Amino acid sequence: MRKNPFTPSFGVAPPLLVGRTDLIEDFGIALDEGPGAPGRATIYTGARGVGKTVMLNEAEEQARSRGWLVISETATPGLISRLTLNHLPQLIDAHVRTPTKRRLTGIKLNGLVGVNWETTDASTLQPALRQQISELTDALAEHETGLLITVDEIHRYLTDELRELGTIVQHMFREGRELAFAAAGLPSSINDLLNDDVLTFLRRADRHALGAVQLGHVAEAIRNPIERTGRSISDDACSAAADATSGYPFLIQLVGYHIWRQSPTTTAISDDDVATGIAAARRRVGSLVLEPSLADISDVDRSFLVAMSHDDGPSKTSEIAQRLGVSTTYAGQYRLRLISADLITPAGFGKLTFTMPYLREYLRGHAAAMGLPQQGPKELS
Ligand SMILES: Nc1ncnc2c1ncn2[C@@H]1O[C@H](COP(=O)(O)OP(=O)(O)O)[C@@H](O)[C@H]1O
Ligand SMILES: [Mg+2]
Repeated sequence: MRKNPFTPSFGVAPPLLVGRTDLIEDFGIALDEGPGAPGRATIYTGARGVGKTVMLNEAEEQARSRGWLVISETATPGLISRLTLNHLPQLIDAHVRTPTKRRLTGIKLNGLVGVNWETTDASTLQPALRQQISELTDALAEHETGLLITVDEIHRYLTDELRELGTIVQHMFREGRELAFAAAGLPSSINDLLNDDVLTFLRRADRHALGAVQLGHVAEAIRNPIERTGRSISDDACSAAADATSGYPFLIQLVGYHIWRQSPTTTAISDDDVATGIAAARRRVGSLVLEPSLADISDVDRSFLVAMSHDDGPSKTSEIAQRLGVSTTYAGQYRLRLISADLITPAGFGKLTFTMPYLREYLRGHAAAMGLPQQGPKELS
């Protein structure tokens, strides 16, 4: 049987990546432009499932295709020690040291006696990190290549380690080294980090808010993988499928996956397959994307969203305030937080709407289960 080409899970390269060509090229250009190019420090932000991890993978591909080395990491505790104890020594071993030299020096670096390799204290490891990146980029510069470090899921709880890393990367930039840095995170996490004064490095980085992909591109991202498996889909069915995604990348894969699997042994995907597939995708988007997104925000923010979900279209901020029993000014604060979390977006004067497809329907169905009053609390402290 033909294999379903769609990838409805996180961090997996889609069968056809659409709508990001310019952004991917921008990163490649920054690598070509040399030290000092602003894009050599890049941050991708956006809601869950918008394609941040996929963009980091693409940035890595841009680097590899130019002969650069890549360190691909995630912002979890121990980031700095993983860099100084695993990644960098390995790369230095493979690309800098000759085998004899390696035997003599072990994993310790020349001139770095006294560093306690056991420690996970980032400030102790910082000299090692700086020395290692210098040593590696010196060697790479001879081959006219460099080093890209990517860090996925950057988050406030790792502020200290990110600050250490940022400080060193900034130093290396100033020294004109062939080094690039790309990171990704949820908009709310990034905002928290950028508000930290010490993270000036991240503030100066090129920031790209990833959003919905144009429906024309979405249709292509659905049609092309289907046709590559030898199957077919009509134009109308394809645009119905595209509409159902609202351009949201995770849904491209989820909708594609479910319409594909309805009658996998037939060649032509029928209108029925598409309708049933869209319904199946809608049923699953809640637990896959919406529920985890809602888990990231506070109870009061969730109650604001529930109050919005009573409207069939854009909601008036003033009416939401009324439903919640709070002042318009107070409601304005939720509004800002939720906009910066990429969950809602302004829709004309004094109005708001949901960013994520099916969030409204999900909230209507799950408000009670989330322990939130259906009409919003009367009083909020
Ligand atoms: N531009 C795109 N075109 C098609 N599919 C995409 C695109 N970007 C991401 N996807 C798909 O969407 C899903 C979520 O992408 P991912 O990068 O994991 O999102 P995030 O890291 O923002 O949560 C994956 O299955 C991926 O293959
Ligand atoms: Mg991700």
